[in-house]
Amino acid sequence: EEEKADYIEKIKRLLEEKNAVMIAHYYVDDELQALAEQTGGYVSDSLDMANFGAKHPAETLVVCGVRFMGETAKILSPEKTVIMPTLEAECSLDLGCPIDAFSEFCDQHPDRVVVVYANTSVEVKARADWIVTSSNAIQIIDALKAEGKKIIWGPDRHLGQYIKNKTDADMLLWQGHCVVHDEFKLYELEQLMAKYPDAEVLVHPESPEAVIAKADFVGSTKQIIAAGKASKADTLIIATDYGLFYKMSQAVPDKRLIPAPTGGKSATCKSCAHCPWMAMNTLVNLHKTLVEMNNTIEVDEDIRQKALIPLNRMLNFSY
Ligand code: 13P
Ligand code: SF4
Repeated sequence: EEEKADYIEKIKRLLEEKNAVMIAHYYVDDELQALAEQTGGYVSDSLDMANFGAKHPAETLVVCGVRFMGETAKILSPEKTVIMPTLEAECSLDLGCPIDAFSEFCDQHPDRVVVVYANTSVEVKARADWIVTSSNAIQIIDALKAEGKKIIWGPDRHLGQYIKNKTDADMLLWQGHCVVHDEFKLYELEQLMAKYPDAEVLVHPESPEAVIAKADFVGSTKQIIAAGKASKADTLIIATDYGLFYKMSQAVPDKRLIPAPTGGKSATCKSCAHCPWMAMNTLVNLHKTLVEMNNTIEVDEDIRQKALIPLNRMLNFSY
């Protein structure tokens, strides 16, 4: 604990010295989320993280999350230094959608608009016509459908299927998945719902279709927190990464929060659903990165320019 406090103090000083600001995702450790908040940084979902970084005047953005989040920050702020506590923090959606195979898939369907989730590499983004996150995907697909467009969707098959069901758009789905959300289990969820019949069920749309079908609310991490606040229920069952419980319990301190079960594990264990890559961000490697100013995100300028077009389309899209 003493050692932790020591790291926290050192990190605070370094952030000031280096004119750096922390931008953290809800899924990183509580202590990193708290530190971001205490130092004038920000904790949010992937869409808001991108917006915050682009608008903030700091010279250096310290992105605590996974690589695609650092890359998105760099695409939007090429003049800034973007560093991350570790460059090893990947995402199964990004890894499961390599540019060559995805590009070939797109080439086979030249009549379709290419819409990709933010959880992709900068190269995949550069191949896309649109980028979306789970907080605006339905609205953007709806707008494209209204224009009569047929769509290629990548990489998350569950989110893709959910949007397809919702909008009835003509979508061809890449078959990627998030290793964390893919683990939520219908049977165990039903048992939990039977035990807490008045609970409301909040689900991230990267979860399997059968789990989404049980939800009272489906949305991005930030939208799940807002839905929790708006809910009249005393108990919330939440199907997303356990990291979200930190901000969720601040938002609704009087509610009982229960993690949705992942298979055979206990319904309340801390290891129920937690992204192994998000967990790679620690006070120790954050401190080291700030001292050494290493782990910088670099993006080829030509590819960056291409990726910026669909990214700006998303940021300028209002609904
Ligand atoms: P959000 O856009 O909801 O923050 O999701 C990002 C993510 O990686 C979810 O697993
Ligand atoms: Fe990727 Fe899933 Fe981890 Fe989010 S939780 S970063 S989608 S692997």
